[in-house]
Amino acid sequence: MKKDNVDIRTSLIFAMAENRCIGKNNQMPWHIPEDLKRFKTLTIGHPVIMGRKTLESILGYLKKPLPGRESIIVTRNPQTLYPDTPILQTGTIEQAIEMGRTIAKDKGLDEIFIIGGAQIYTQSLAFAHRLYITKVHREIAGDAFFPTIYDADWEESECLSREDHDPPYSFVTLDRRQQNLL
Ligand SMILES: NC(=O)c1ccc[n+]([C@@H]2O[C@H](COP(=O)([O-])OP(=O)(O)OC[C@H]3O[C@@H](n4cnc5c(N)ncnc54)[C@H](OP(=O)(O)O)[C@@H]3O)[C@@H](O)[C@H]2O)c1
Repeated sequence: MKKDNVDIRTSLIFAMAENRCIGKNNQMPWHIPEDLKRFKTLTIGHPVIMGRKTLESILGYLKKPLPGRESIIVTRNPQTLYPDTPILQTGTIEQAIEMGRTIAKDKGLDEIFIIGGAQIYTQSLAFAHRLYITKVHREIAGDAFFPTIYDADWEESECLSREDHDPPYSFVTLDRRQQNLL
């Protein structure tokens, strides 16, 4: 059954070190295969919204957009950056979320994902209903950081810890306590 827009959850998904580092030199500064698996499991089939730099990072290692997901990129560049590809492009985060919701609604999905990077997370945190976090239990040097998450705004609904991995990490899911979204 298809869902109305209000039923479509906007989720941010990210991996973050203890110092909130999420990237270095436009790459992820760690390799956690289970994190990549979880990312794929959660996002497959859903619209994924990202900044232009994160798309470039993905194209750098995958040589193509994420398969099985509609990619929507946000850029201030008015020119079509990736012609002859299925990548959708828009000039604002609000429009990207609206595009994602429309696609989700058409497909009967109840969730869209914002997949980075730092600039896009910072500007879209206020729109998020849910955060899927991979907490990397290390301080990591980098140049891209997730904004401050205020505990009072969020309620933990899942936590799975893997202390035996190098680096150790945990999967944490947070749901917004009140739906006083922008
Ligand atoms: N750890 C994780 O889970 C994770 C996930 C994703 C990414 N990352 C990391 O994050 C880093 C990239 O983040 P970043 O902050 O440098 O770049 P980003 O957020 O991916 O993309 C930034 C670009 O998005 C566009 N943009 C930003 N705000 C906009 C707005 N309000 N309206 C229209 N366009 C807007 C601009 O593109 P134009 O310059 O084209 O105008 C800007 O240069 C990399 O290190 C990557 O590896 C980490």
